[in-house]
Formats: sequence, structure tokens, C-alpha cells
Amino acid sequence: MKVTLAIATFCVVLACSHAARTTTTTATKPGRFLSLPVPAKCASRPKEFSYRGKNMFLTTHVPALANKKVDWLDGRNLCREYCMDLVALETQEKNNLIFRVIQQNDVPYIWTAGRICDFAGCENRPDLEPKTVYGWFWSATREKIQATNRIPQGWGYNPWSQTGHKKRPQPDNAEYDINQTKEQCLSVLNNVYNDGIAWHDVACYHEKPVICEDNEELLRYVAATNPGIRL
Ligand SMILES: *[C@@H]1O[C@H](CO)[C@@H](O)[C@H](O)[C@H]1NC(C)=O
Repeated sequence: MKVTLAIATFCVVLACSHAARTTTTTATKPGRFLSLPVPAKCASRPKEFSYRGKNMFLTTHVPALANKKVDWLDGRNLCREYCMDLVALETQEKNNLIFRVIQQNDVPYIWTAGRICDFAGCENRPDLEPKTVYGWFWSATREKIQATNRIPQGWGYNPWSQTGHKKRPQPDNAEYDINQTKEQCLSVLNNVYNDGIAWHDVACYHEKPVICEDNEELLRYVAATNPGIRL
């Protein structure tokens, strides 16, 4: 199901990166922007494993990034400098691969590209309502995430955890009930709630390792603007 979100704030063309001001700003880090790719970093980006031709890496496996934990937007920007973005888990096969990487390396949690569309540009979209069910998307590709409350089409299980802080199925926006901090970002947690490896909505300020994945738009852009570059 390839339904993309037409959201003005997520620019496809990098020339309009000014408009790509993210809405994930917090009180402590105001006015943050999406980073542009760095051609030299794109050319030498870590290629730890791949899925369907897209290279990926886990930050904890890259010596220079091994101890780095980042909030969700810093995670996107860390990846974007390498012409990558946070990993998107569009299919069960790809999700199983990432769950395996998490399990085999005993990673406690990672950020994914998943985010809820609740910012400027997401209004007047009946197709995204209710947001907790239909409002989630992969920011790396702007592709919608299927309904959160049932097994996605083409899958044999629901990747969202059936439990969490409130002992209710995810997403549950639990931190909002505690202190009005919304859980707007999608993390894969490794058995944090005795629930195996599963998707959870989490407040975006939490700092976690990330898995980066090749981003076609950024690679195309850097290839087009750096003749002869080997990516
Ligand atoms: C909200 O609660 C969480 C969990 O107890 C805590 O980690 C976080 O710092 C709190 N945030 C604010 C803004 O108080």
C-alpha cells in the first residue's frame, strides 16, 4: 500500500530545506532544521547490511558512533548527513530483519522513521483520523503506516506491542497522561515491557541508538550535484 502524504512541511526537493523546518522542536531545542547530506560522508557511509539494495547500519556498530544516543530528530539528521534516514519498516520481511538485528545484538531500543502526523500540514485530513489509528507515517519516505489497531495487510502479526506503561495496546500516548509530553515518534523496544521486540510510541526527546537506511532522494540529490562521486 503506497500512499504518500502530501505534506508541504516535508520537502522533497532539497533546495527548499528552509521549509523543512520540523515541528518536533522542544522547549530545550527550539528552531531545529533537517540537515542536508554531506557528500563526503555519503561517499564513505557505513554499509553494515542491506535490504533490497538499501544499505543500513546500526550506530552502536560504528566505532565513531558507538556510544551515541540521540533524540528522534538528531537521529534523522545523523543519518541524513550520510544520505540516509532513520529506518522505515514498511513490510513484515524488513521488520523481521530489523527485529533480528536488535535481538542478535541485544540492542535495548532504536528509533525508526515512524512519526505521527499531528503538525502543521496534517489538519483537515479525515483520512488520518483518528490519528492514533490512521495518523502514523514513515518520515523517511512519507509513506503511510497502516492502521495501528489491527494486523497490517500483508503481515502475519501486528508489530505494535499489545502492552506498555498503561498495559494497553500501543500506540497509547502514555507520557502525555503523566506530564503532557506527547508520544509522537515510533521506537522499537526490546522487551522493555516484557513484551518481546515490538513497536511503541515514545516521546521524541528520549535518546536512543538508531538504524540508518539509504535514502533514495538524498543519494540522487548528492549524485546529481557532485558529478563523478561514487556512492
Ligand atoms: C515526563 O515524565 C517522564 C517519565 O517519568 C520523564 O522522563 C520526563 O522527564 C517528564 N517530562 C517533563 C517535561 O516533565
